[in-house]
Amino acid sequence: MVGREHDPTFDLAGRVAIVTGGAGLLGVEHAAALLSAGATVFIADVRIDVARDAASALARSHDGRAHALSLDVGDPASVRAALAAILVLSKRVDILVNNAAIDAKVAADGLRETSRLEHFPLDAWDREVRVGLTGAFLCSQTFGSHMAANGGGVILNVASDLSVIAPDQRLYRKDGVPDERQPVKPVTYPVIKTGLIGLTRYLATYWAEQGVRVNALSPGGVQVDQPAEFVDRIVTRIPMGRMANSADYRGAVVFLCSDASRYMTGQNVVIDGGRSLW
Ligand SMILES: NC(=O)c1ccc[n+]([C@@H]2O[C@H](COP(=O)([O-])OP(=O)(O)OC[C@H]3O[C@@H](n4cnc5c(N)ncnc54)[C@H](O)[C@@H]3O)[C@@H](O)[C@H]2O)c1
Repeated sequence: MVGREHDPTFDLAGRVAIVTGGAGLLGVEHAAALLSAGATVFIADVRIDVARDAASALARSHDGRAHALSLDVGDPASVRAALAAILVLSKRVDILVNNAAIDAKVAADGLRETSRLEHFPLDAWDREVRVGLTGAFLCSQTFGSHMAANGGGVILNVASDLSVIAPDQRLYRKDGVPDERQPVKPVTYPVIKTGLIGLTRYLATYWAEQGVRVNALSPGGVQVDQPAEFVDRIVTRIPMGRMANSADYRGAVVFLCSDASRYMTGQNVVIDGGRSLW
C-alpha cells in the first residue's frame, strides 16, 4: 500500500509567526493552523491573560511552539517591543498575520442609534481605525521591514467580506422601530476592511523584490451567538446556506502563509460561502 504523500510546500517547520489579536475567536484558529503546519507562533494581544491561556493550551498540543505576547497594535512603541521580544526568543520573524480589529457594534446607546452614520461618534471612528487599519500599518512597517531586510517573509491581512461588498443593513432591522432609529453596521468596519486591501496591494508591490509577499484573507461571518433572527436572515443571502465555522479558514491561512502560495502577492482571497456573489 502506498502511504499518503505530504506536500512540503505547505510545511511551516522552522518558520516564526506572529498573529495579532491572537487571543480572539479567529486569532486562535489562525495560530492553531500555523502551529499544525509546524510554525512557532506568537499569540499577540492586548488581552495578555487570554493570550497566555490560549498559548499554554496550544503549546501543550504543539511541542511548546506557542507563546503569548503583550501587544497593542495601535502603539508604535508596543509594536517595536514585540519584535524585540520575539527576536530574543526566536531570532527572526517570517510571518505576520494582521488579525486584530474591533468589531464595530450594531448597538443603541438608549437615547439614539449611535451606530447610524448621522450620529456615529468620532472617538469610535478613531478607536476602530487605530486598531484595524493603523495597527496593520504599524505592524507591517515594523515586521515587514524586518522581513525585507532578512530575506523575505509573508504578511497576511485579515479583512472581511465587507472588503468587497457593502453591509446589507436589512440584516439588522428591528420590527416596530422608526427608520431613523434602526440599527446599522457602522461605517468604520467596511472602510477599515477595504483600506486593508489597499494596504495589501501597496505593500505587495513595495516589497516584492525583497521577497515579502502580502495577501489578504476576507472571511465571511462566523456563527457564534448571534440572535436566531439575524442568522435566519443572513443564511438566505449566502449561496452555501450557512454562516462559517471558526475552523473554516485554517486551510486558507496555511496556504497563504506557506510556500504553497509562493507565486501569489497583493491578492484578496474571499472565503464567504459565496455571499459576495449575490
Ligand atoms: N468573526 C467573524 O465573523 C469575522 C468575519 C470576517 C472578518 N473577521 C475579522 O477577523 C479578525 C478576527 O476576528 P474575531 O472574530 O476573532 O474577533 P475577536 O474580537 O474575537 O478578536 C479580536 C482580538 O483583537 C484583540 N485586540 C483588540 N484591540 C487590540 C489591539 N489594540 N492590539 C492587539 N490586539 C487587539 C482583542 O483583544 C481580541 O482578542 C478581525 O480582523 C475581524 O474583523 C471576523
